[in-house]
Amino acid sequence: MSAAAKPLGPAEQPLGTPESAAEPARPGAGLPQHIGIIMDGNGRWAASRGLPRALGHKAGAEAVRRTIEATARAGIGWLTLFAFSSENWQRPADEVRDLTGLMRMYLRSEVSSLAREGIRLRVIGERERFGAETVRAIGAAETATAHGTRLNLNVAVSYGGRAEIVAAARDLARQVAAGTLDPEQVDMATFARQLSTAGMPDPDLIIRTSGEQRLSNFLLWQSAYAELVFQDVLWPDYDAPHLAQAIAEFARRERRYGLRVA
Ligand code: FPP
Repeated sequence: MSAAAKPLGPAEQPLGTPESAAEPARPGAGLPQHIGIIMDGNGRWAASRGLPRALGHKAGAEAVRRTIEATARAGIGWLTLFAFSSENWQRPADEVRDLTGLMRMYLRSEVSSLAREGIRLRVIGERERFGAETVRAIGAAETATAHGTRLNLNVAVSYGGRAEIVAAARDLARQVAAGTLDPEQVDMATFARQLSTAGMPDPDLIIRTSGEQRLSNFLLWQSAYAELVFQDVLWPDYDAPHLAQAIAEFARRERRYGLRVA
């Protein structure tokens, strides 16, 4: 059972309108510990301006910077951004090249400010698929930011929730076959330890921008009890007030984890 949402009052503004987001995030007051974001709408943002898609992704990278800052300022400890899905490899080669080049550039240009700001970067997903140069840039950024304690930032690249679950099952099967694991001991905690998010809290809030209402293979295991908030804003336009609105919406939800209230 998912948590039931309380209906919005007439005075409450719809999501996706930053002008109406007067409510700043209040640390401690129903604040999510971990937010996951499906950043959607770069292409539509570019098309609506007659620009190439690459410029939509570039503007999306600016929104990434703003959102990381806003999340850290709100006192939220964990942020996972879906930057490149397993399915994104099927996009035209020039778009894949633009996106991977942008991510590499971002890693290099942002690493010192992330480290300075106490932001620990980790990359989840099949990083090897991007080639040696990118794998090196990711490793260097992870090492340079490893001391950060203010915000844990995960960037999901070549990531797919089903593939992650299958890989975890395969690893466990190998351990059973090798005689190092008793199948009777496989429980949810054992399973979660095989995932790329081992040791991290599950996301409490998943945000998707651009008005689409799907999980698209993002954190499937981890989001079992997450609140879902869909915002009608294209990712390159995303800013602190949108984040504050999503957090305020989260604070209004009643989370039941399958239990009954009264
Ligand atoms: C979805 O928009 C977005 C992506 C596929 C990529 C997200 C990448 C970024 C925000 C920029 C780089 C990331 C980092 C971490 C620096 P879409 O292209 O599917 O848009 P559409 O649905 O409007 O076509």
